[in-house]
Amino acid sequence: MGLIIKVIEILGKCPVYKVGDKIVIEDGCRINLQETTAICMHSLAAIMPYYVALNKGVNPVELGLAKEGNKAYVQCLDPCKYTGGGTVIFEIRKVEKLNQKEVKMDHFAELGENCIVQENVILGLRYKENCQKVKIGNNAVIRSGTIIYADVVAGDHFQTGHNVVIREKTTFGSFIVVGTNTVIDGHVTIGNFVKIESNCYIPTHVTIGSHVFIGPGVVLTNDKYPQKMRDQYRPEGPIIEDGVTLGAGVVVLPGVRIGKGSFVAAGTVVTKDVPPMSLVKGVPGEIFPLPEKLRELNIAKNWRKYINDEEIKNWYNRLR
Ligand SMILES: CC(C)(COP(=O)(O)OP(=O)(O)OC[C@H]1O[C@@H](n2cnc3c(N)ncnc32)[C@H](O)[C@@H]1OP(=O)(O)O)[C@@H](O)C(=O)NCCC(=O)NCCS
Repeated sequence: MGLIIKVIEILGKCPVYKVGDKIVIEDGCRINLQETTAICMHSLAAIMPYYVALNKGVNPVELGLAKEGNKAYVQCLDPCKYTGGGTVIFEIRKVEKLNQKEVKMDHFAELGENCIVQENVILGLRYKENCQKVKIGNNAVIRSGTIIYADVVAGDHFQTGHNVVIREKTTFGSFIVVGTNTVIDGHVTIGNFVKIESNCYIPTHVTIGSHVFIGPGVVLTNDKYPQKMRDQYRPEGPIIEDGVTLGAGVVVLPGVRIGKGSFVAAGTVVTKDVPPMSLVKGVPGEIFPLPEKLRELNIAKNWRKYINDEEIKNWYNRLR
């Protein structure tokens, strides 16, 4: 149980609140400071007498705090005419359960406009002292089960499937999909318009460009001799350049660079660098020139409107 108190109107000038500010009070009189956007002593004095009754579900109409409905209205005590301040009108709503849709209680994150965060999501898991909030732009959809560590940054139109784990120091551009059960192990840089399908593993120290498609079950690696030769251990993930496609179940060995526009066939194991505009297939991957029919920019249908047609048409021609 809890109360969500919203500023809906300000008469005069208030130095503390603006319309839309919110105070979140959890059960047991605790103010949720992460979710509360502003707080002023005058307003607490106005709200306090009604806290217990409203939290226990007494009808706001019976308390004289509404004409109808289940929201209560109170006004702060600042006599603005004499103080030069402002009187703030609050709308108070009781919620049965302060779930993560209502209040992102565990979140250590800054999100843009129009974002959907489903239940059982952790945004900004603190993995050390002094880490920074997760920052995500507008229009994100973060599906249940996702865990994103602190120090992760993403642009607009960022989407995760269920049970995605994204560790610290991962940076995404805009227009990103990270599919269900995919793990990105941190210290990874990813460009714009990138689709990573389900069940992928992306270890640390990987760089992925823009317009990259990563098929289901792809495994990138960063340690050539795991648990051996530890004196020489230096994690080195693959570099996946712009416009690359990795088919389902591809494995890419540590430090391998896959050149722009290349297409890696399903099930291939890429053991060495691939020049731009290549087709790679088999185990170990054999390199061929990229067939004419595959020389198209990777772009999901629903993203086409965000990029100009000329760029789509000419991208590969410019690479020749
Ligand atoms: C590589 C790929 C694009 C080739 O498609 P295509 O150009 O239409 O080629 P074809 O199916 O005509 O096959 C041409 C040859 O390549 C072989 N081949 C096709 N895919 C292969 C693969 N993944 N690995 C090894 N050989 C492959 C075929 O056996 C055939 O060999 P042959 O000439 O000796 O008979 C396609 O097979 C592929 O792997 N696509 C990726 C699918 C995927 O992972 N999607 C992810 C989203 S679900």
